Amino acid sequence: RKRVVRVSTGSKQWDAILNGGFQSMSISEVYGEFRCGKTQLCHTMSVIAQLPKDMGGAEGKVAYIDTEGTFRPERIVQIAERFGVDPEQAQENISYARALNSEHQWELLNTLSMSFATNEYRLLIIDSIMACFRVDYCGRGELSERQQKLNQFLSKLNQMAEEFNICVLMTNQVQSDPGASALFAGADGRKPVGGHVLAHASATRILLRKGRGEERVAKIQDSPDCPEREATYIITNGGIND
Ligand code: GTP
Ligand code: MG
Repeated sequence: RKRVVRVSTGSKQWDAILNGGFQSMSISEVYGEFRCGKTQLCHTMSVIAQLPKDMGGAEGKVAYIDTEGTFRPERIVQIAERFGVDPEQAQENISYARALNSEHQWELLNTLSMSFATNEYRLLIIDSIMACFRVDYCGRGELSERQQKLNQFLSKLNQMAEEFNICVLMTNQVQSDPGASALFAGADGRKPVGGHVLAHASATRILLRKGRGEERVAKIQDSPDCPEREATYIITNGGIND
């Protein structure tokens, strides 16, 4: 029988508010303004997921769908060095693909559902979930079609998370229109894009923001089993840390 596994963030404080890390068998979403560390979290967890369980890992391979072109292999090398693992091996265990548009993103997901059948994978990263959809369906009259396609993608994602015991971590952008966020805002005046379709699909939602100095703050907005708490973290050469 499948058991939920947890993947550490790299920060003890952040792990603590998540009861040990992001969990498998459901979708987790981190969202927030630029430079909060969403992409750095993706890099960090891509290495940690491979580690033994007593180091916060899930002893699994990683699939990485990059929609913004911000994946950097040299960051994987640095993070691997922090955890004392072979950088070459760490890179080999990450199946990387750049999604060129939303149709391609869908095709990549379907290809991965075949790879996942080997039961070696434990983490799937999508950085970011909405970038391609927002470009491909930018017209006013295209919103309902976008949401329909998005729903199809997220349903498949949820099904794969459960069937193959995968931790799905996706990043998301925030509404940039200040008027809209003032009117409809969640906490701190920041609202994730993707509407109800995305809100419904993500079991765990975390808002990231800048804190004092180099500090960043992660706040749980939605979780099946954790209260709404905050944690601070920093971004280092070795990835997300306390
Ligand atoms: P967007 O994708 O633009 O919305 O931002 P993001 O939330 O993905 O931010 P990202 O994860 O790219 O974080 C950028 C921050 O990470 C910047 O403040 C960088 O200074 C920091 N950063 C990136 N690489 C390194 C590194 O190698 N060492 C350290 N110490 N910090 C880094
Ligand atoms: Mg990013």
